[in-house]
Amino acid sequence: MLAKARTCAVVGLDGYIVEVEVDISPGLPAFNVVGLPDTAVQEARERVRAAIRNSGCEFPLRRITVNLAPADMRKAGPSYDLPMAVGILVSSGQVSDSPDSAVFLGELSLDGGLRHTSGILPMVSIARVRELTTAFVPAVDAREAALVEGIEVIPTNSLGDLVSHLRGETRIAPVPFEDIRVADIGDAPAGPDLSHVKGQEHAKRALEVAAAGGHNLLLTGPPGTGKTLLARAMPSILPGMTPQESLEVTKIYSVSGLLPSDKPLILQRPFRSPHYTISNAGLVGGGRLPRPGEITLSHRGVLFLDELPEFGHTALETLRQPMEDKVVTISRAGGTVTFPANFALIGAMNPCPCGFFNHPTRECVCAPSQVARYQKRISGPLLDRIDIFVEVPPVEYEKLMGQDSEETSSQVRLRVERAREIQRRRFRGTPFICNAEMGPAEVWKLCRMEENARSLLQAAMKQLDLSARAFHRILKLSLTIADLAGSDTIGIVHLAEALQYRQRRQT
Ligand SMILES: Nc1ncnc2c1ncn2[C@@H]1O[C@H](COP(=O)(O)OP(=O)(O)OP(=O)(O)O)[C@@H](O)[C@H]1O
Ligand SMILES: [Mg+2]
Repeated sequence: MLAKARTCAVVGLDGYIVEVEVDISPGLPAFNVVGLPDTAVQEARERVRAAIRNSGCEFPLRRITVNLAPADMRKAGPSYDLPMAVGILVSSGQVSDSPDSAVFLGELSLDGGLRHTSGILPMVSIARVRELTTAFVPAVDAREAALVEGIEVIPTNSLGDLVSHLRGETRIAPVPFEDIRVADIGDAPAGPDLSHVKGQEHAKRALEVAAAGGHNLLLTGPPGTGKTLLARAMPSILPGMTPQESLEVTKIYSVSGLLPSDKPLILQRPFRSPHYTISNAGLVGGGRLPRPGEITLSHRGVLFLDELPEFGHTALETLRQPMEDKVVTISRAGGTVTFPANFALIGAMNPCPCGFFNHPTRECVCAPSQVARYQKRISGPLLDRIDIFVEVPPVEYEKLMGQDSEETSSQVRLRVERAREIQRRRFRGTPFICNAEMGPAEVWKLCRMEENARSLLQAAMKQLDLSARAFHRILKLSLTIADLAGSDTIGIVHLAEALQYRQRRQT
């Protein structure tokens, strides 16, 4: 007898409906899976066999053929275990019928229990889009599935429980929809508070501007002045995410298997700081079946590259395209996928190999050619994409020991939120979230300047020999500074501040 059960697959970040067809026919006992299964799917046979037996059901000793349709799409991962088991139980008459409008998702353990499965959120989302009414998911992932409105989520602990439910013996209660609009933001972000950093007011202001508008920033300075400390304080001043942003980020983490099961919704902006030994695929994404890299895991948040010149040349160059397009497209034999990669870059570096070039009191021991070579590791095009260059000088003893209370992150964050609120109103009805995302058309339309600012900009363009990109970036940065000041036009002070961030001390 032929039976069907529906499930979902994830390619990139998108879910697809997959039909699992099970046919049991007379003949020598066999269990074959067709329809482009990968190794994990092939191995499902062993798990399904044991799980059915250990759930008090009978594994049919006949010829079982499982087809995963559409057959031209590669199937990966262990999430096909549950629909296969359901198909076999229906096909062998142990369960009368499986609901037509349901999806079954989950990996089985040998005792019939359901394990955590990655990618539940995108899979349940697509089931909802295709107007399926019920999703059977592992109980540990039920809260993640319940983020999707309009579909009944049945938390399933084991195959045995599911069989009782389908037979109508013991019904499992669905979990209620988790309304993310009322979600609690939870704990304060991890990492240091801005008040732990003594002095460095200029750098702190730059961080505030970067957080308010989503701009890219580079911190340069001698060793031990607080560059890493400053960057790590960034999460504490980043603005909250809208429900839409939260869902986008949660989908990425769900597919990557990085979602904490106790908090299925990510409410804080991501902050990723990969080490410089990371591979290119780890940074931008890749693999036979492409998976998100660090730039996608930083989507809607911050990618912090500490010791920037130590990152390989190709690694840094691969960032150029996603920094401009806000997405990254990866082509592999397994298919082409596009991942979102809308992040703000924060870099930190020393000015030279010894670290003391331009130091006020210590002498740099590097040859000029060494300094030049070191600084050249970061290419011109990448530097052109950086909006804010900040020098982080040594902190004086008085400042370090001083009792002056520094401004706390929550105070700074209040201003950042206020500036973001202005941007939210500005970009209502557009796909943009913050100033840094504007395209040339929006820059022309939305960056209104006062007359004296206009003439300063003209002079600066000539004197600093700015590229067209730099010109647009300065305007966007000035708009953020104006937003922080609560002004609806760009005044000369806002533009002047933006211009001084663009200047990098050269050798
Ligand atoms: N401005 C500061 N206020 C308070 N503590 C500081 C400051 N700067 C540095 N420190 C102390 O020094 C330690 C090292 O700072 P940090 O790692 O940020 O330096 P860095 O600038 O990143 O140096 P490197 O160039 O070597 O990476 C910090 O953990 C902190 O204890
Ligand atoms: Mg450091």
